[in-house]
Amino acid sequence: VGSRVGYALRQLFETMMLERLEERDQVLEMHAEHNRTLTALTGELAHELKNPLASVKGLAALVRRSAEGKAEERLGVLGREADRMQSILDELLNFSRPLVPLAMEPVDLHGLAVDVAELHEATALDRRVTLVVEGDAVPLTCDPRKIRQVLINLVQNALDASPPGGTVTVRVTERGRRAMVRVRDEGPGLSAEVADQLFEPGTTTKAGGSGLGLVVARSLARQHGGELLLANHAEGGCLAELTVPLEPAA
Ligand SMILES: Nc1ncnc2c1ncn2[C@@H]1O[C@H](COP(=O)(O)OP(=O)(O)OP(=O)(O)O)[C@@H](O)[C@H]1O
Ligand SMILES: [Mg+2]
Repeated sequence: VGSRVGYALRQLFETMMLERLEERDQVLEMHAEHNRTLTALTGELAHELKNPLASVKGLAALVRRSAEGKAEERLGVLGREADRMQSILDELLNFSRPLVPLAMEPVDLHGLAVDVAELHEATALDRRVTLVVEGDAVPLTCDPRKIRQVLINLVQNALDASPPGGTVTVRVTERGRRAMVRVRDEGPGLSAEVADQLFEPGTTTKAGGSGLGLVVARSLARQHGGELLLANHAEGGCLAELTVPLEPAA
């Protein structure tokens, strides 16, 4: 990036010296175009890498539970490195909105939720949180990788908010022509200072948070013609509600 910027500046300087204003505009436009392409590519790459990385992290944590000695130590290192990669990707996503076109296919939303819960099994065990998935099969035509990403972000937030001994419930249902996933936790609920800016980039109350999870999740939900809402539950805790049309609009 540094050399690319250096190159751009040199080129800009040269064209200005020659007072070829028109040419300078062309160079500027060309760099703006390059910039747009790079931004789109960065977002796509970061987005595509997030899910496999979450699997690596989840599996390393799971295998680590039954490992001993050196193996246990090394898997710990692997987990921390995966964490590092995740935060780098989050930073990259900060610069680009991940709106790669949808790759639609028929899936079972309940099955997808079970997959996501399995991915977080080790984290939940570590934090003594019970993670349950309720409901029956819901056939949905969607981009499964993106919906999975939405669910991962919601389950991670719910686990982060959960006290030891708490329960996170993921409930998958069908309402009219829409599929609905509700993720409920028994944490303190949304704090007043962030409640009305949850979906703005950078809103976070966590030490290591990027404040992008909900931004990305909502943009992916809306890309499907769906919606993502968060609210405090009447009986305590936070309730995140994702709705997506069962079939995409023609
Ligand atoms: N289940 C929840 N209970 C309480 N507060 C929540 C919950 N989910 C989200 N929040 C609040 O919303 C903020 C923004 O969430 P978001 O997922 O966008 O970012 P983050 O979790 O802080 O960081 P990251 O980008 O790593 O996901 C959180 O920092 C937290 O304050
Ligand atoms: Mg989050």
